[in-house]
Amino acid sequence: MKNLIAALTIAGAFALPMSSQAQDDYPNRAITWIVPFAAGGPTDAMARNVANRVSQELGQTILVENVGGAGGTIGATKAAKSAPDGYTFLVGHIGYMAAAPSLYSSLPYDPVKDFKAVFRFPDTPLVLLVGASSPYQSVSDLVAYGKQHPGKLNFSNAGVGSTSHLVAAMFASQAGIEITPIAYKGAGPALNDLMGNQVDAMFDQTNTALPQTKGGKVRALGLTSPDRMAQFPDVPTIGEKAIPKFEVATWFGLYAPKGTPDQVVQTLYQAWQKAVQDKDFTSKMSDQGIKLLPPEQYAPAAFQQFTANEGKRWAAVIKQAGITLQ
Ligand code: MLT
Repeated sequence: MKNLIAALTIAGAFALPMSSQAQDDYPNRAITWIVPFAAGGPTDAMARNVANRVSQELGQTILVENVGGAGGTIGATKAAKSAPDGYTFLVGHIGYMAAAPSLYSSLPYDPVKDFKAVFRFPDTPLVLLVGASSPYQSVSDLVAYGKQHPGKLNFSNAGVGSTSHLVAAMFASQAGIEITPIAYKGAGPALNDLMGNQVDAMFDQTNTALPQTKGGKVRALGLTSPDRMAQFPDVPTIGEKAIPKFEVATWFGLYAPKGTPDQVVQTLYQAWQKAVQDKDFTSKMSDQGIKLLPPEQYAPAAFQQFTANEGKRWAAVIKQAGITLQ
């Protein structure tokens, strides 16, 4: 019987709680953070930003594993089923941790019941982008074309339920236009095709849109932040130019599979608390178009409650906007 338990434990088929010895010298090997989108997108960029700084505090390597597909739900499922041993975590976000239960009828995980919130990351607003050679110079130009040509505007996104998908659907619904969504395995590939003029527009997060905007590869027409951003000079908010109060940001954070010891959660959260007190680190994030939060919002309990609230909020938004799995 002992051999069977040992074998099952090794196989991860059922994970025994961490021994007190294992908890004392945690982390004693590399940690994996699953990012459920392709490399090169905003979630991947945010994850590597945070992981690099947190690993310095932990004195341990954090490996980022990209597992793309289905708007992030494939990677989230893998994380939910991983051993709660403190060595595998999910980089979660608004799409697959809040909107997905209202879009996917048989989600193999529950964002609240199957995970423990570890700490929230900073947010990224989004920006409506068109290709550098696009004829659209403003949000109203794009909306005017959309009204005259229903369904003709192709918007690339990172998959059903991704923020780029949700925000484009909300925008179309509130602007009174019909768009055609084109899904990719992440916003990175979606942005590449926008730069290659394969699609007409996309909503990307500011941290990955900024360098391409500065480099003249894409044109920013409007921000989803409540106010203009210094990093995007002369770019209006969508709220001031087209749809009043059109405000949304992608939120992100770290989650552990349920059953992960609280001490592990606290170890990682304390490392993050030290990182956000490092002004050099936080100013670099702000310069990338990332919105820092009041420190109390990063905490595990606050983030767990926030995740539950967001699930309810997005269920109402999705119903109101008639967003579906296409
Ligand atoms: C999204 O929801 O659009 C994501 O942030 C995509 C990504 O990070 O690749």
